[in-house]
Amino acid sequence: MQINELLALQDEQLIKTDSYINGRWCSSETTVAVINPANSQQMIEVSNAGISETELAVKAAKNALKMWSAKSAHERAMLLRHWFNLMMQHQEDLARILTLEQGKPLAEARAEIAYGAAFIEWFAEEGKRIYGDTIPALSADKRIIVVKQPVGVVASITPWNFPNAMIARKAAAALAAGCTFVVRPAIQTPLSALAMAELADRAGIPAGVFNVVIAENAPAIGKILTQHPDIAKFTFTGSTAVGKILLTQCATSIKKVSMELGGNAPFIVFDDADIDAAVEGAITSKFRNAGQTCVCSNRIFVQKAVLAEFTEKFKAAVNVLVSGDGLAENVTIGPLISSRAVSRVNKLVSDSIEAGAHLLLGGNCDPMQSNFYPPTILTNVSNQMPIASNEIFGPVAAIIAFENEQQVISMANDTEYGLAAYFYARDIGRIWRVSEALAFGMVGINDAIISNAAAPFGGVKQSGNGREGSKYGLDDYLEIKYLSMGGINK
Ligand code: SIN
Repeated sequence: MQINELLALQDEQLIKTDSYINGRWCSSETTVAVINPANSQQMIEVSNAGISETELAVKAAKNALKMWSAKSAHERAMLLRHWFNLMMQHQEDLARILTLEQGKPLAEARAEIAYGAAFIEWFAEEGKRIYGDTIPALSADKRIIVVKQPVGVVASITPWNFPNAMIARKAAAALAAGCTFVVRPAIQTPLSALAMAELADRAGIPAGVFNVVIAENAPAIGKILTQHPDIAKFTFTGSTAVGKILLTQCATSIKKVSMELGGNAPFIVFDDADIDAAVEGAITSKFRNAGQTCVCSNRIFVQKAVLAEFTEKFKAAVNVLVSGDGLAENVTIGPLISSRAVSRVNKLVSDSIEAGAHLLLGGNCDPMQSNFYPPTILTNVSNQMPIASNEIFGPVAAIIAFENEQQVISMANDTEYGLAAYFYARDIGRIWRVSEALAFGMVGINDAIISNAAAPFGGVKQSGNGREGSKYGLDDYLEIKYLSMGGINK
């Protein structure tokens, strides 16, 4: 079955249903359904690859490595630039595919396509600047030279919340560095990944350089991608719990790894903040992708002197959000990915209410009815309640009151996570003190939109390691080789 919306694309050839391995579309014996989370209807079936297809993809990436790494950075950049252009030319179709399988509003899906494509453009250029080094040697007869080389075959597992951008962010850096790439995208969102493969193919990216394996059995495929001896590096975006398992598996062959894991972002509003700007920032950061991002505000700390004003304005802004099918142009909040996700958020909310939180807006959702969770505000929250100590991954804003700077810094840092943090303040001394004290990889200061291709995205503590995007993002795909040259004075 194929639903009308998928057939209504300007370029129907972007809908692919087989894995893309070694430049070919490869079917499998079994299939798996792709569900539209807005109505829980099956849209289409895609091939469900297994161990043999995954091994084929690794083999293809290994075989292509010599050819791809031998190309000049300029040649790779031309192909990546072509891929970027095609992504932007097909932005509308790619966005529709993304909304249909993931649920986010079309405007956000369009933004995600541009965000993903920007990584390809960025790394196409950055790949030309993989500079080495010369280091003064200790002996006059010697020279020390440092060169950077691609790590080799890169394998990755990417999530459903950003089905395009998380692949682009990893693949662009890998390919620009001269590595070849195998990705197993989340099974909920295969179509976006396959459409990217179709465009990579049209862009002329050679066979074997970019491979997409669509497979339902995540543990089995994960084992291959983390343990295969021909894979040099593994990169994952997803939960900390799964990241820990994959990291352990990577240890068996000492792979280079980068992990972009869970978050529990504090969003702090100080009494000297521009409250209107803070409200706008909190809305953006909390409700982007219906709260299903690792960098979403998870705990909104508000200083007592401005608590009433912030809460009233924030509630008014939440009240005008529109839930619905992301294909409708006025919708600002799409569904959650599944009824399981709805049940999970529901439980966090009800357990927190039982523990003393106050339901100011929303709540009360029946996961059996639909995947839409209403935009919700909880007040009177403490840092220990389930809604504050867990990554919510849903459109629930938990407001926690605080007295002073020291107290809020200690509450904000009181989490195993360390991905993103945000705060709104005007006092310059406070801005420096708080920025330096927050134990997070990324800090938005009077800024709620921190993700972009030029910036180093990544976390500390149990939010992972490595950085994606920016000039630092290439390092994760490069090895440093030191050449010691003697006999200079002979
Ligand atoms: C994520 O939620 O994993 C990524 C969010 C982003 O790139 O902004």
